[in-house]
Amino acid sequence: MLDILDGALTHEPPIWFMRQAGRYLPEYRAVRAKAGGFVELCLNPELAAEVTLQPVRRFGLDAAIIFSDILIVPHALGVKLWFEENEGPRLEPVNDIASFERMQPVLDRKITQPVYDALKIVRDALPANVTLIGFCGAPWTVASYLIAGRGTEDQGPAKALMRGDEKLFASIIDRLADATAHHLIGQIDAGADVVQIFDTWAGSLNEHEFGRWCAAPIARIASAVRAARPQARVILFPKGVKIEWMKRLVSEAEADAISLDPITNRKRAREVFSGICALQGNLSPDVLLDGGDAMDREIDQILEDFRGTRHIFNLGHGILKETPIAHVERMIARVRERA
Ligand code: CP3
Repeated sequence: MLDILDGALTHEPPIWFMRQAGRYLPEYRAVRAKAGGFVELCLNPELAAEVTLQPVRRFGLDAAIIFSDILIVPHALGVKLWFEENEGPRLEPVNDIASFERMQPVLDRKITQPVYDALKIVRDALPANVTLIGFCGAPWTVASYLIAGRGTEDQGPAKALMRGDEKLFASIIDRLADATAHHLIGQIDAGADVVQIFDTWAGSLNEHEFGRWCAAPIARIASAVRAARPQARVILFPKGVKIEWMKRLVSEAEADAISLDPITNRKRAREVFSGICALQGNLSPDVLLDGGDAMDREIDQILEDFRGTRHIFNLGHGILKETPIAHVERMIARVRERA
């Protein structure tokens, strides 16, 4: 995978997938029960390392992504974070001057250190040819949870603040961007070979807002990381945006790879990005959930569409928790056999 990120063409795409450590694995559910809760699991280095390694051991994947969450960054800025079982993450909302001023200016090392400790344990346990991926959320996506205090269908509260109090909104984005750059540098120092920036909600903004609140802060983070750690490699996942916007983002951030969501047109992506960066993706998690011959055909099509480009096989978004393990095994075998 590192060869591909660094510019080499190989005919067999490396494989990993988003949310590869998670609830579809019985061994994950067992460790999760032992940890007591999701945040507790994220902040326990031994257990976080164990669940990171589980899918790599079980499937022989080419990369491990550290088990953590994008909301650890606001948590390390002093914002309370917890999970409501069967619902999702909750944060103390930061949506006015008073709550913004209660946030810390820089990351609390007591919260981030367990992530770095987990990375070190994983690095030592991984075979040398397995890539270790660190990650973060992009400021806009993290802000959408932080401002609402929870996940929302339409990111309504964050958009209302963006349009109603631009100065405060910009302060939140700037604070998250600086903290995120530091968190990525911490992960690289702990052993991450590459970092991926998840902008799950990039697709809910218009072109102007995308440029200002997604692309600009992501470019600033990437350039701060690269200035501090020149060996850093960066993968971007701007979900739901037009290829033309992605192109601008990749060039502003000098990304090493772009991770494509399931609806992106692969032939267009290939035309736009080959020669510029590697392409990651983009099997639909729904197709993996259903499995069968339709999945095989889709995998073959992806391999065909990206043959002769720098390709990292992945899903177009995180694996669904109902996904049968047999489908995952069949997907990996198919990619390796057809590549
Ligand atoms: O990819 C990986 O295997 C690494 C781990 C990882 C998790 N979250 C673990 C997790 C990564 C990269 C993330 C990123 C993340 N977290 C994003 C961006 C990517 C995306 O999928 O859109 C977002 C928006 C979050 C915030 C978050 N964390 C939400 C909305 C949820 C609830 C979702 C759900 O399916 O319940 C989480 C929880 C979460 N993060 C789980 C896992 C494995 C499920 C926790 C559990 O109950 O055990």
